Amino acid sequence: MSSLSVNHLLGIKYITKADIELILDTAKNFKEVINRPIKKVPSLRDITVANLFFENSTRTKLSFELAQKRLSADVVNFAASSSSVKKGETLVDTVNNILAMKVDMVVMRHSSPGAAVFLAKKVKAKIINAGDGAHEHPTQALLDAFSIQDKLGNLKGKKVVIVGDILHSRVALSNIFCLQKLGAEVMVCGPQTLIPKHIESLGVKVELNLRKALEWCDVANMLRIQLERQDIKFFPSLREYTMLYGLDMNLLQSLSKKILIMHPGPINRGIEISSEVADSDQSIILEQVENGVAVRMAVMFLLAGRIN
Ligand code: CP
Repeated sequence: MSSLSVNHLLGIKYITKADIELILDTAKNFKEVINRPIKKVPSLRDITVANLFFENSTRTKLSFELAQKRLSADVVNFAASSSSVKKGETLVDTVNNILAMKVDMVVMRHSSPGAAVFLAKKVKAKIINAGDGAHEHPTQALLDAFSIQDKLGNLKGKKVVIVGDILHSRVALSNIFCLQKLGAEVMVCGPQTLIPKHIESLGVKVELNLRKALEWCDVANMLRIQLERQDIKFFPSLREYTMLYGLDMNLLQSLSKKILIMHPGPINRGIEISSEVADSDQSIILEQVENGVAVRMAVMFLLAGRIN
């Protein structure tokens, strides 16, 4: 197969295993391209992409923008804080006005779950979800899968634990879908109050004890506590959270085998992960960021192939 089965990337839930494999294989080629002295290719030369960020971002926004520039696309950037959204304009009106300027593809981050799915039904452009509330963050899951594959080979049978604030995490949900489609076993670990009820129905294991979870896994993906999405207290204090669910060097070195450590960022050093662990040779956090550019190049290249 050489084309995607979808016109938009709205979530990992909506794409097939073959789509994921195509994106990851294509990203391998783009990783080779961005490590050349001349990093630019003309693949998106006639394509205009708008980056619409209604929520804060460092990695995702910069990574998409770099990926677009490496592919020679024309790029326009939109930040909600300095736009007419502040004057009451709706999302569809905002996007339709941008599309009237002949934009082909929209990369959008929004705080409302389902915003990207909604937009894809309303406007004529390829939509890429760059994170919608606590719903999905598909390119993060794809770059995470790419990074694990890069280090450990095929994901089939690999054991991945996602640790921390599963309840508020779009990264967790997209990772669960992506890893399972690629044949990995997935566990979630964290305080009971941050594990969604009935998550076992997605086919994941649940473990409340961090040491047991780490002994089980090949890879641990440590998540940030999303205080900005918590309107009530889910645990007594950050200090207690760190005592029970923070990963430090003592714990990492006491395990019976070496595991890979991942984090989608931004990191809260000293809370979910110690600085020593984040900067250790078992951590692939910065490789995830590097791989993100290649994966996003692959996604946009493949979606551009579906523009009529
Ligand atoms: N991983 C991630 O989405 O980071 P940003 O919020 O900085 O984009």
